[in-house]
Amino acid sequence: MRLGVLTSGGDCPGLNAVIRSIVHRAVTGHSDDVIGFHDGWKGLLECDYRKLDLDAVSGILARGGTILGSSRVRPEHLRDGVERTRGHVAELGLDAIPIGGEGTLKAARLMSDNGLPIVGVPKTIDNDIAVTDVTFGFDTAVGVATEALDRLKTTAESHQRVLIVEVMGRHTGWIALHSGMAAGAHAIVVPERPFDIAELTQRIGERFSAGKKFAIVVAAEGAKPREGTMEFDTGGTDVYGHERFAGIARQLSLELEERLGKEARPVILGHVQRGGTPTAYDRVLATRFGWHAVEAVHRGEFGQMTALLGTGIVMVPLAEAVETLKTVPQGRYAEAETVL
Ligand code: F6P
Repeated sequence: MRLGVLTSGGDCPGLNAVIRSIVHRAVTGHSDDVIGFHDGWKGLLECDYRKLDLDAVSGILARGGTILGSSRVRPEHLRDGVERTRGHVAELGLDAIPIGGEGTLKAARLMSDNGLPIVGVPKTIDNDIAVTDVTFGFDTAVGVATEALDRLKTTAESHQRVLIVEVMGRHTGWIALHSGMAAGAHAIVVPERPFDIAELTQRIGERFSAGKKFAIVVAAEGAKPREGTMEFDTGGTDVYGHERFAGIARQLSLELEERLGKEARPVILGHVQRGGTPTAYDRVLATRFGWHAVEAVHRGEFGQMTALLGTGIVMVPLAEAVETLKTVPQGRYAEAETVL
């Protein structure tokens, strides 16, 4: 068989582990040929690729990013490119395996619905893909954010400041919830649960009244105030249809400083959460996903995606994976709140 691999959308730690695993399983387990497309769907659309053999993936297990490169493609370009892609896949004799998060899996579904042999692998630091318990990249991002929060606590305490730490998470607050719990943040705000600025101010204010000298608020980038409770700038949308944000940490710090009369500063962790070496957990999950994706290709299970269910890897339809987002349930938020 001949397999094509691509990595698309926002990168995440563990992508190289998946590429390596796919190549190892395909080459040594099945004597397949593997090629890798450069820069995501763009590489498939433009037929820009290179051969991936065992040498090509040597030493990449622990490396962050993706050796194949990634890119975002506008949905309309993808739709227009279906026929071209079909031509390339036929010419090259391929069973393509995309790797991707929410946006990439939507693209994978589009290609799959148009008859292309696709097997998906879910990846995103956001952990917001339904039908898989966890996506790789999430554990690494939570670790990076937790370490940053631990460090920020000591400087916040020295300077008696309120630090509002913005972590990634456009639609869901998984990174905020987990890193906030792990680091013992004093408040967590997530997109799933618009916050009331008066309640938030009261919570932080009570902490200061109790004699504490600093506070840490973790805010997912997509968090918003409850309507009408605070003036709030929302950004527009970018060319890929993604919401742009006007900066929750910046806006919250201005508001909290004014309401509390305490110095408040925004800290934006940004892409540092996505870069660098994956944790052992993410390397293992990514390696298992890659192995199972190759097996699914050999069983002809196209239009499916690998997923973690409990401790096992299963295949689920791409259609199910893109239907809804996995949001933070109220119960999980409540658990975090009691320990804040
Ligand atoms: O979807 C993963 C993610 O890291 C989000 O958490 C974040 O909002 C987005 O990608 C950032 O994307 P970009 O690097 O294209 O700005």
